[in-house]
Amino acid sequence: MAKIIAFYNNKGGVAKTTTATNIAGVLSLENKKSLLIDGDPQGHASLTFVVDSDQLETTLGAYVISGWTAKQASEYFIKINDYLDIIPSNQTLSDFIVQAAAEPNEVRSKHLLNFVESVKKDYDYIIFDMAPAVDIVLENIVEIVDDLVVVATPETYAVKNAATTLKITDDRNVKVRHIVPTKVQMNTNTHQFLLDNLRELAEDHDIKMTDTYIPNLIAFAESVTLYQLPVSLTTDMRYKKSKIVLPKFG
Ligand SMILES: Nc1ncnc2c1ncn2[C@@H]1O[C@H](COP(=O)(O)OP(=O)(O)OP(=O)(O)O)[C@@H](O)[C@H]1O
Ligand SMILES: [Mg+2]
Repeated sequence: MAKIIAFYNNKGGVAKTTTATNIAGVLSLENKKSLLIDGDPQGHASLTFVVDSDQLETTLGAYVISGWTAKQASEYFIKINDYLDIIPSNQTLSDFIVQAAAEPNEVRSKHLLNFVESVKKDYDYIIFDMAPAVDIVLENIVEIVDDLVVVATPETYAVKNAATTLKITDDRNVKVRHIVPTKVQMNTNTHQFLLDNLRELAEDHDIKMTDTYIPNLIAFAESVTLYQLPVSLTTDMRYKKSKIVLPKFG
């Protein structure tokens, strides 16, 4: 049965997509059958793998609007390698959010549950890359997630948003299991200080901060530009030399 991990923060630009796509890449290299679901109308997880989802009809939003299960949609999943499939997203996911807003709570929060249930036995991991929003997709995610990973950069604004995010998830009884610090520059006092703040925040909410931080490296952006892949799936020797170690989940 797949473990469902969602990468979330209601702040934008903290590396949710970069973390989700790289972790999905690592899991596939470990021969763990993984399904990466782009849960953001911006479609950035899709774009990481050169899937320009704007014109696509086979997207998450279209599936949930039509009431399709993931099993029914599976022939349209994009295969990245033997162990990694992707479901792209585009603005149709926003249409779903608007449409579902009119539904009663108990109906509107169950769309993703109904969607993923049919393929949970086909995958080891289902990874969601989420939008920086408190919306119906988040309402749906909290119904299904095993590990909601709060992605946070050690910057004042992001630490504040991590606190807000944890309040939101506490209120909704989400089993948040981790904070993962990203874009970390350990050679700065500011980042060291704010990492301590993040660690205290994690302790206050009785959750873990990962021991492994994702460093601030241009390689993360460059590999998408040069290779249309997350750095974890590229073979460029320069990146190997950077010895990027990603946190483990699951
Ligand atoms: N570890 C890193 N080191 C340096 N740059 C990074 C790192 N991770 C991500 N970036 C860059 O930071 C920017 C934001 O990253 P990303 O799109 O993953 O954030 P996000 O949280 O998904 O944003 P959004 O809220 O818009 O979905 C991108 O330009 C990305 O290339
Ligand atoms: Mg993103």
